[in-house]
Amino acid sequence: MPCSDLDDALASGKTYADLATQHALFSRLRDEDPVHWCEPAGYRPFWAVTRHADIIEIERQHDRFINKLRTKLLTIEFETKVREAMAGQPMLVRTLPQMDNPDHKAYRALTAAWFQPRQLANLEDRIAGLARQSVDRMLEVGAGGRVFDFVDDVALWYPLRVIMTILGLPEKDEARLLQITQAYFGGSDPEMQRGADLIDATMALVDYFKEVSRDRRQNPRDDVATIIANSTIDGVPIGDLETYSYYIALITAGHDTTSATAAGGLLALIENPAEWRKLKAHPEGVDKAVAEMLRWVSPVKHFFRAATTDYQLRDKTIKAGDFLMMCYPSGNRDAAAFEQPFEFRADRTPNRHLGYGYGIHACIGLHLANLELQILFREIVARVERFELAGPRTWVETAFLGGLKHLPLTVRPA
Ligand code: HEM
Repeated sequence: MPCSDLDDALASGKTYADLATQHALFSRLRDEDPVHWCEPAGYRPFWAVTRHADIIEIERQHDRFINKLRTKLLTIEFETKVREAMAGQPMLVRTLPQMDNPDHKAYRALTAAWFQPRQLANLEDRIAGLARQSVDRMLEVGAGGRVFDFVDDVALWYPLRVIMTILGLPEKDEARLLQITQAYFGGSDPEMQRGADLIDATMALVDYFKEVSRDRRQNPRDDVATIIANSTIDGVPIGDLETYSYYIALITAGHDTTSATAAGGLLALIENPAEWRKLKAHPEGVDKAVAEMLRWVSPVKHFFRAATTDYQLRDKTIKAGDFLMMCYPSGNRDAAAFEQPFEFRADRTPNRHLGYGYGIHACIGLHLANLELQILFREIVARVERFELAGPRTWVETAFLGGLKHLPLTVRPA
């Protein structure tokens, strides 16, 4: 493949909607040019960083490689539209991934305690209840060997319910929030956009959370929405943009990622029946199985960093002002970091996957996501004898965040 085709492929959502294509591309880059200068048509250029050790090397130096200048891949045309809509600012939102220290530390600390294992333990029963309901529903729609779609019928709803519970949002708003967040992450996928674009979807979320904020300032409760609505830093209330952005980050990052991991993880278990049997025989190993799903699926395809100084990475000189794309799915298939990286092993140990990123920006919701995925898969392996694939599976066309779009299955209960 000529270099310009390779660069275009790296930026194209279509590449990520076909796992074989995605991984062939990354394998080639890891082998031949692990720090690759990339100039896709229609995008500002960047370095694609594809090896596990290099991603860690960059992310651990958060003072040298910063976030606020560019977080993800957007076309130049779209970036121009954003600047016009946001009075010259390069982002539609301003939240943790767009911040550097000292702001990042201060804003992260506002909600961090809510996502720590000790606090989450209080929610375990509620999450287990939601997992039970999701599996009840799956067995109901799949009763009598009927084909159902694991993505539409289970994976999309369960994590949304969990994050809505933590934020304290009412169940009646589920369908609306699902529709908006899907448009938000639909990327270039025509089926996911449903007529809305990212700017419309962001504005719809801002409108929704304006109302939530107003309510929680008047009627504070024991939920994360109340924390965000009433947050102060150094005694000063946080700004409107930062307030709405915080909600948007949690509601969007908190469910598409988890649902993509659940669906992609289940597919991996179905395609590797020995691993399914292993997990059924040893459900106590579900934590390892979930870690392997994160490595395997890597639903977040990248985040960006910007260099603030010149830096030598392998044989390449990164110049101050250059951008770097951290290619997590690639790091997660790096043979230097994982034994037989193209094998799905439900009990893989050790497993230093990069599915949640690394360093100070590593996913704030990782304990929550681990917990909800572990609870869901414990429930599934206890109540299902086996699944069969029952039609073509398809992936969302996106170069940023997503996974399976449809996973038609039949299920035989245990
Ligand atoms: C399987 C599920 C999930 C995956 C794969 C995932 C993945 C990621 C990744 C790769 C990053 C960027 C890390 C970096 O820059 O090094 C991130 C950041 C983040 N995630 Fe998650 N995430 C998941 C679930 C969640 C959940 C449930 C929440 C909600 C509570 C959440 C909220 C966030 C936020 C707010 C950030 C920004 C953190 C920062 O910049 O400090 N994520 N996540």
